[in-house]
Amino acid sequence: MSAVVTPVSLSSLTKRPRPITESVIVGKDILDLLAGSMYINPLNIYREYVQNAADAIDEARDKGLSFTRQPEVEILFDHVERSVKIRDSGIGIPSNEFVQRLTTIGASQKRGKQLRGFRGVGRLSGLGFCQELIFRSRAEGDSKASEIRWDGRTLREKMRDQNFNGGLAEIIQAAVTVNTAPADGFPNRFFEVELRKVSRLRNDLLLNEDTVRGYLSQVAPVPFMKDFQFGKEIQKHLETHGIRAPIHIEINDGKGQIFHRAQNKILLTDTAFDPVRAIKYVEYQGSDGEICAIGWITDHSYAGAIPKKHGLGGIRLRAGNIQIGDESILADFFPEARFSGWAIGDIHIISPKILPNGRRDEFEPSMHYSHLQEELTLQAKKITQLIRERSAQRNRLRSVQQQLGAAHEWIKVATEKPLPPLLIKVLQDVAALKLAQAVKEAAKLDNESEDQALAATRILEVETALSKLPLCATAAHTQNELSKNLEKPVAAALKTILSHAKNPRAGIELSVEVLNAIGEA
Ligand SMILES: Nc1ncnc2c1ncn2[C@@H]1O[C@H](COP(=O)(O)OP(=O)(O)O)[C@@H](O)[C@H]1O
Ligand SMILES: [Mg+2]
Repeated sequence: MSAVVTPVSLSSLTKRPRPITESVIVGKDILDLLAGSMYINPLNIYREYVQNAADAIDEARDKGLSFTRQPEVEILFDHVERSVKIRDSGIGIPSNEFVQRLTTIGASQKRGKQLRGFRGVGRLSGLGFCQELIFRSRAEGDSKASEIRWDGRTLREKMRDQNFNGGLAEIIQAAVTVNTAPADGFPNRFFEVELRKVSRLRNDLLLNEDTVRGYLSQVAPVPFMKDFQFGKEIQKHLETHGIRAPIHIEINDGKGQIFHRAQNKILLTDTAFDPVRAIKYVEYQGSDGEICAIGWITDHSYAGAIPKKHGLGGIRLRAGNIQIGDESILADFFPEARFSGWAIGDIHIISPKILPNGRRDEFEPSMHYSHLQEELTLQAKKITQLIRERSAQRNRLRSVQQQLGAAHEWIKVATEKPLPPLLIKVLQDVAALKLAQAVKEAAKLDNESEDQALAATRILEVETALSKLPLCATAAHTQNELSKNLEKPVAAALKTILSHAKNPRAGIELSVEVLNAIGEA
């Protein structure tokens, strides 16, 4: 009897996947992530709130609403209460949408709206750094302001509580209360977030006005300082590429408005600075052929690393005119990472295909971002090359100056007192040699550069002084003139003496002694 073998298809043994029907649990612990712990730097919470303010201001501007109040954003510190308020005069939230918008998590109504936020979580970033987080707002036409309080202490208690079995929605319901804002007197249109009993972190940085000012001058969409000589021109350039107008932000520290970090002078040490000479505009094409990023880079002498404490150095990346990451976001693209801190500039991402990640410390990986990164690597290489060229140029200039200095010195000593004519002639030769070396080095300086012009002027000065040397020097004749046939070897000996002398004067003294000795012999 022969067995009948029926082939069995393996795939018919595996069950087809089914969609899940079980309910999905979103646990309370997710809140911890949203309440600041996903941000690397606590100061990032200021970026999140300023970003929301900037979105609200842009929405109000787009609607043609009037701005009767300046500044558009105020940051109000209260050290006694340990609180801070960030208040804006943007579009606000209408009272009928207020609770919904401020309790929704991860479903932003901004998505697809050309605004900066789109993940619907940023406003919770302060929760991890204070005891109470309060939002208040009034939109045009609302009779009263609304208020919603997130009680940080209750949230933390419930997070730790083993017996609390609720998920994300339940913990929010337990810790959040709403109200109409007590005692009116609020502006007609505003939004504010108040952080109460702010945590004391290192240097109390969240309540340190200078720290917050320094941070926002790098990160926020603020205007250039009025006296920054290239400010107006850069601003115009940004506007032509659709970058929205900057925002007037003030802190109540008596120091007024916050301005962009750019400066006319780059302080390298307490006393030395490098002036910004010009601005170079850059533009990068995406893989689809469209411009995906534009920006500006300062031209300066690249004389050294810009101290980190000034918050000035680095080419920064921005989206919606808000910085993504920090000053070293491009460091890895430089052949030597340290050089990234020698340059200054901003690159604005304009492609909607390149999106910031949730932490806003980088962009989401994508083909479009990779392409831009390649372009930026080329840019970093160019900057590095420039840094190296400028350094070589500085060394050449230094060498020119040294040679000219030496020539000048020989000319000077030759005219200080009467000297034997042969010695004067030798000194002239020695100075001429130094001058020739200077001319040779100067020829290597960049054509038409400031350095070359400077060197040319100095060379001319020394040449003139050298040509006048026979007139200025006084000949002191020794008793016995050297016989003609001795002149050449003696001149050679004097040259050797002079070139080995400790200093020009010592060389001259020794030369005179030698000449006298030969004369007496
Ligand atoms: N300053 C503000 N003015 C008006 N509405 C705001 C402001 N800040 C936050 N909101 C509202 O709260 C929502 C949630 O903010 P957020 O958690 O930062 O998420 P996202 O900014 O990604 O939408 C915003 O979409 C907006 O509707
Ligand atoms: Mg936001």
